[in-house]
Amino acid sequence: MKLFHQPVLLPEVLQALRVKKGGKYIDATVGGGGHAQAFLKLSGKILGLDCDPEALNHARESLSTACPSSALSRGPKASWRLVRANFKDLAKVAKMNGFDQADGVLLDLGVSSYQLETPQRGFSFKSPYPLDMRMDPDLKVTAADLINGLGKNELKKLFEKLGEEKLASRLAEALVSARRVKPILSCQQLADVVLKVKRKKGKIHPATQVFQALRIAVNDELNNLREALPGALEILKTGGRLAVISFHSGEDRLVKDFFKDQENQGDLKILTKKPLRPSWEEMKANPRSRSAKLRVGEKK
Ligand SMILES: C[S@@+](CC[C@H](N)C(=O)[O-])C[C@H]1O[C@@H](n2cnc3c(N)ncnc32)[C@H](O)[C@@H]1O
Repeated sequence: MKLFHQPVLLPEVLQALRVKKGGKYIDATVGGGGHAQAFLKLSGKILGLDCDPEALNHARESLSTACPSSALSRGPKASWRLVRANFKDLAKVAKMNGFDQADGVLLDLGVSSYQLETPQRGFSFKSPYPLDMRMDPDLKVTAADLINGLGKNELKKLFEKLGEEKLASRLAEALVSARRVKPILSCQQLADVVLKVKRKKGKIHPATQVFQALRIAVNDELNNLREALPGALEILKTGGRLAVISFHSGEDRLVKDFFKDQENQGDLKILTKKPLRPSWEEMKANPRSRSAKLRVGEKK
């Protein structure tokens, strides 16, 4: 099977969550099951969530292949269970599956390499396929709907706020002019319009921020995280740990502020004064890890 996703900061996550035999762990972004596999190998009980059915298919395959002895995924004695759900409903899903009073929760935010690299999913610059970007295929609004439907000012704000794009205004203008000629329907078409405004410098594609902003908006990523964090804290047992890996400054700020508020209220102890970052070796082996930040807190 093609590698679905290389788990980021794996030893750091295992250490942070102190995975132990029989402990209950929720991987709220199970993806290809990279982190979850490692939890299983340490004999933890796993509840894995993902909103993408393709991710769950991969996770099911990799969990049963990696740990055949724990392939039992049904019944009260199951060592792992996968549920298609949005992590904003984490507390509800955990309670329904007997995973309240959990020992640990992991949120590894954003998209997987599989999602990014499957051209039909519409996340990648060179894809000739429709500009889609939905992680959950049941969502109603695609990236093409936003690019063709939002006003110039709304596009500018989106690129500034979620993409931290310095040329937001010029890009919004260029896109509105381009779509007057013909709707922008494919990823490649969008990347081509961006390339007319931003020149290619270095290794990072000039459309990276625009694509990131659209992806965050299509999947309502910041609101989902805002709802998931209190849910995660609610279902942890005292002494249980919450680990969050973020890849975007907006997400990291949200996690940092949530942790601080909870610490001030006496409900959480922050275990990472500064976020943990991947080692140089990890960044070299897996360039996608380079913007990862891990924050860990313990429920009081
Ligand atoms: C970075 S990948 C996780 C990779 C995983 N840790 C691994 O090692 O294979 C993030 C996953 O979270 C899922 N995801 C993103 N937002 C979600 C949400 N709101 N609810 C549920 N799953 C979500 C994505 O579909 C994706 O599969």
